[in-house]
Amino acid sequence: MLKIAVLVSGSGSNLQAIIDNIESGYLNCSIEAVISDKKGVYGIERAKSKDIKTYILDRKQLGSGISGEILRILDGKVDLIVLAGFLSILQGELLQVFKDKIINIHPSLIPSFCGGGMYGIKVHEKAIEYGVKVSGCSVHFVDEGTDSGPIIIQKVVDVCSTDSAKDLQLRVLEQEHIALPEAIKLISEEAIKIEGRKVLAIGKVE
Ligand code: GAR
Repeated sequence: MLKIAVLVSGSGSNLQAIIDNIESGYLNCSIEAVISDKKGVYGIERAKSKDIKTYILDRKQLGSGISGEILRILDGKVDLIVLAGFLSILQGELLQVFKDKIINIHPSLIPSFCGGGMYGIKVHEKAIEYGVKVSGCSVHFVDEGTDSGPIIIQKVVDVCSTDSAKDLQLRVLEQEHIALPEAIKLISEEAIKIEGRKVLAIGKVE
């Protein structure tokens, strides 16, 4: 069974989607830890209500030391780290020890509306301001850059002319709750491999 840690900074609806998919039997994995970089976030309450071990690492206090703390907590304990709305940037040894074993969900079709400073509602504000006709979400492996690692899954949603950023955010979030469990399942079943920038299905011609 795949052991995972889920890292959150907010409401944790993506964490909830993972929990629900484990409970339904879709995902064969266990959540060994939930880590937040902020006190008082609802994601931590969701984890506690399921008796999952939680850790709060204050990013204001720790600064760039947060990656080292995460490594100290998770080294040797989990197979995969899932960034589910986690807003601190990971760096250093953590990325080497967990090479190709960290995934992130981003609320746009990468490489649009991503990178430094692009998170949460801001992503959707920029998409609407730009006038795109479709947006969506991307699950990707984490590398040294921001939102730059190989893409595992993308889901597309229509953007309507009347959409507010909040409307678009909600429509994209529904797809995030499908995409993130799907990506975890592919990894847990060893169904994908990374070749350069590409994530390929193992044993299938694409
Ligand atoms: C999600 O929309 C996620 O894609 C986004 O934060 C939200 C967290 O929601 N992540 C980023 O913007 C990362 N760049 P949640 O706490 O309800 O899962």
